[in-house]
Amino acid sequence: MKIIAAQTKAEMNGKAADIFAKHISAKPDSVLGLATGETPRELYRSLIDRYEAGELDFSRITTFNLDEYVGLAPEHDQSYHYYMHDALFDQVNLAPERCHLPNGMAPDLDAECRAYEEQIEAAGGIDLQLLGIGVNGHIAFNEPGTPFDSTTHQVQLTPSTIEVNSQYFATPEEMPTTALTMGMKTIFEARRIVLVASGAQKADILRAAFFGPVTPEVPASILQQHNDVTLVVDEAAGTYI
Ligand code: F6R
Repeated sequence: MKIIAAQTKAEMNGKAADIFAKHISAKPDSVLGLATGETPRELYRSLIDRYEAGELDFSRITTFNLDEYVGLAPEHDQSYHYYMHDALFDQVNLAPERCHLPNGMAPDLDAECRAYEEQIEAAGGIDLQLLGIGVNGHIAFNEPGTPFDSTTHQVQLTPSTIEVNSQYFATPEEMPTTALTMGMKTIFEARRIVLVASGAQKADILRAAFFGPVTPEVPASILQQHNDVTLVVDEAAGTYI
């Protein structure tokens, strides 16, 4: 595992964006795995800036997002569809048909999960996967206890995740309590992984995940066994590493 330490959240996102920019330039037809959340917004902004400066071309890039809420329309401003269009898709020359998120509105959610796995496989697998980390150690919406061999599936969100994410909804009751998520195996199969973390609230879980035992109780701990993981942290998140 490689650790890149930054002072601030902005610097952390800039360093993570450097990795993505280099990767896209070296392999313009890359398959990228993308995350939502508060942490990587500036990373996407930085990629947009580089695109606008003529330094990056997304025209042959394919993307797969980690997760989406069940039952939230794509137009809802807390859906991950909305987030990605707002944060990146609509601002660079990505081909809409090559940008994928699980469809949490699908009539048959199990079939949707299987189809998502097939689409990732058909695209040749994920070259570079971006991850954040939840305060409970989740990656994507793989909550503590999720088996390491899981593929894309439907999950019941834990009280910890509901508490953290419901603050972004107009009323907490509006937040769905189930979601579709890439599985632990799906993520682990990415050829390269970059995890970004910012803020003191992530410090304890980062220590547990990267320096504690590898266990499904701390989903991100699986990353200790991956051969190409880069952790990019700001000063507060990196306190114990
Ligand atoms: C988002 C995702 C989540 C977040 C994690 C951290 O697609 O899969 O695992 O990465 O909850 O979220 P933030 O960045 O809001 O702290």
